[in-house]
Amino acid sequence: MVIHSLNLVDFRNYKNIDVEFNSGINFIYGLNGQGKTNLIESLYLITHLKSFRTSKIGDLNSFSKKGSTVQTGLSKQNVRHDIRITLHENQKKVLHNRKIVNYSSEYIKNFLSLLFSPDQLVAFKEFPLERRNFIDRILFLTDEKYFQKIKEFNRIKKQKNVVLRGGHRKDLFVWNKLLAAIIPDIVKVREEIVEKINTLLPDIFTALTGRKDCLQFSYGNDLKNKTEPLPESILAFLLTKVDKEIGNGHCLFGPHKDNYWMTLDGRKDRQTFSQGEYRIAYLSLQLAMNKVVTTVLGFKPILLLDDIFSELDEKVSEKTVSHIVERENQVFVTSTGIPEKFLDVGTGICVSNGSLSIM
Ligand SMILES: Nc1ncnc2c1ncn2[C@@H]1O[C@H](COP(=O)(O)OP(=O)(O)OP(=O)(O)O)[C@@H](O)[C@H]1O
Ligand SMILES: [Mg+2]
Repeated sequence: MVIHSLNLVDFRNYKNIDVEFNSGINFIYGLNGQGKTNLIESLYLITHLKSFRTSKIGDLNSFSKKGSTVQTGLSKQNVRHDIRITLHENQKKVLHNRKIVNYSSEYIKNFLSLLFSPDQLVAFKEFPLERRNFIDRILFLTDEKYFQKIKEFNRIKKQKNVVLRGGHRKDLFVWNKLLAAIIPDIVKVREEIVEKINTLLPDIFTALTGRKDCLQFSYGNDLKNKTEPLPESILAFLLTKVDKEIGNGHCLFGPHKDNYWMTLDGRKDRQTFSQGEYRIAYLSLQLAMNKVVTTVLGFKPILLLDDIFSELDEKVSEKTVSHIVERENQVFVTSTGIPEKFLDVGTGICVSNGSLSIM
């Protein structure tokens, strides 16, 4: 997948810019506060229809403006797509090849960018929901049945929560039965993607660091030590928890409580990784996902790498650059430093106070 051109009007600190991108490496550099992350955010918006920095879409409009537009021409597997996103206050309107997009969830199944950003990294480290969303975003793209199963699971869970809040004990059986029937399929798909990631992760970590310790991604299935992964066992387990769930007023057990984490030679990430190690591990995970998506879907996602080099030592930075270049994705990488390492292999784009110049 390649983003060829971008036009931003009144988007964050960009008044009106037009830019053509390199289909390989785009090295976006400039001093602090000039608009590097804003540019990455606009590219993320094109592929995810949301921001990674704010849940209020209106924050993307320039201060003092009520609206903004993001327009782009991109291609995926030799098919051209024209996208126009218009934001007005907190509303978003999306035109995909001049047709209105009614469902964001359908649109985002067409495209993918993988993001490394300091904000995203903190959220990923702190919140299991972010980790589940990261994995689910990829699974929605690669597995239509899984997407439907999660939609169904969320619908049933919502209904069960209503029943729990009403304390209607008798009505719970049917909702628990429906949940129990669907949970093993969700768990299986999650286990399988983690297995795939783990066939790739150690080599990527070694390529970025030169280190031999084994990076692994782990899946903590909430029901694992509570019941067998079979509908009847899950139902029996849920029935023993009716009082507890009614007391809490919402579903306490199931895939919405699953967790993921990383380990290095068995030691757990949050407790033992240094800041730099966490960064490299998280970047390795994104790059492993990149390979999974490329293999399964046959297109290369866009890599958005905001500020990856801070906290990485020189050796790791150099190895990271070589690895990224070899992957042949379209890449947008930002830094406050001059792109010496990249100048031979890509295009330098200098950002200064909301304007861009190609070097
Ligand atoms: N809605 C907005 N309208 C206008 N300007 C904005 C808006 N939101 C943020 N800005 C400004 O955009 C500027 C650039 O922000 P950005 O986060 O892109 O900087 P950066 O180049 O990534 O800097 P750093 O190297 O520190 O990460 C900031 O000065 C910020 O105040
Ligand atoms: Mg920034």
